[in-house]
Amino acid sequence: MIEFKILFCGRSHKYNKEEIDVVIDAMQTAEPLTQGKHLKAFEKKFGEYIGGKNCFAICNATAAIEMAAQLCQFQEGDEVIIPSHTFTASAYPFLKKGAKIVWADIDYETRVITAEKIKKCITENTRAIVVVHLYGYVADMEPIIALAKEHDLIVIEDAAQSIGCEINGKKAGTFGDFGIFSFHSHKNITTLGEGGMLVVKDERKAKIIPQLRHNGHCAFLFEREDYWIPAMGNVDMPEIDGFQFWPNNYCLGEVECALGAVLLDRLDEINEEKRKRAIKFIDALADYPELEFHRIEDNRHNYHLLAASIQNSKRDEFIRKMAKEKGVQCVIQYCPLNRYDLYKKEGFGKADCPNTDRFYDSMVSFPFHHSLREKDLSYLVESTKEILEELREI
Ligand SMILES: Cc1ncc(COP(=O)(O)O)c(C=O)c1O
Repeated sequence: MIEFKILFCGRSHKYNKEEIDVVIDAMQTAEPLTQGKHLKAFEKKFGEYIGGKNCFAICNATAAIEMAAQLCQFQEGDEVIIPSHTFTASAYPFLKKGAKIVWADIDYETRVITAEKIKKCITENTRAIVVVHLYGYVADMEPIIALAKEHDLIVIEDAAQSIGCEINGKKAGTFGDFGIFSFHSHKNITTLGEGGMLVVKDERKAKIIPQLRHNGHCAFLFEREDYWIPAMGNVDMPEIDGFQFWPNNYCLGEVECALGAVLLDRLDEINEEKRKRAIKFIDALADYPELEFHRIEDNRHNYHLLAASIQNSKRDEFIRKMAKEKGVQCVIQYCPLNRYDLYKKEGFGKADCPNTDRFYDSMVSFPFHHSLREKDLSYLVESTKEILEELREI
């Protein structure tokens, strides 16, 4: 058993007194405990923050992606282009909703999808593109949106990791037809472990989200003498142009929404701190070119994660030594999805993604949660230097 001094922690940040007080207050006073005033306030404030409308709080980002996939209205044979270097929740909801996946490669340096990579995957069956702003870095959206327009494709922005990031003042999640955010335990802000937001551009689609999110609940469309007969409300399938959508129960509770709203006040500060720390960390290791980082100083990156590729073919030895000799828990992340059994079983086990394979097979992700202290970061830097020195000797 390794005794870790620095864990690849499952909790991104601590809560301050104001945030704890908001949670306690919502626990004691919110009525109802779901779909009440805190939900509305969180959605409104989120919309103001990202500069977009039609924001819907959802129980997690995976459920939000599933609803976006549902609203793509896939027909038999429709294809969706997805980077294979991402978390599984960026992809499997599209299989559940009947699409076929075409895996796209990433750009080696930025580790995200580009218009050029997408273009290679477009066929006459392509209906949608999933753009993932992985690690917290916003992909180059302008050419991607132009390409999507040219081919009449739906763009789903998986901004689960890139909340608050922007290109020329436009926030991640507002470029595409759908924007998805996560407030999972690992993310730069977390609503007690689970939570998500779905941003919907199309007004007609946005209009049906409350019903789609809450079991198909809606009003009876006929006049009633007694409000309680035949029932308090109706249940139906929301519909667009004759296409009917099965409902879900994907609401986010009031306590989480109350917390989410107050966390938005601290988001820029958290992102800024993480970015400054990342730059400091990267620069402190400048004499070790065998470690390649993606260094971005402005708010196009929030350094949700701090990843590097190791150019000496000793990645596993590095992680092993960091763990055993220094007690630092580094990990590798985002196994190309086509390598997983689920995708192999579904017939999506093959991908022509050389950059993805090359990056994944040499990458390391450092512990980088917000609650790391200065002395932890110094220890992390010194340990990394020492292990890299040792590896140079071998
Ligand atoms: C890129 C990406 N997409 C989607 C998700 C799913 O988020 P959630 O855990 O809120 O469902 C995650 C979460 O880790 C993620 O990193």
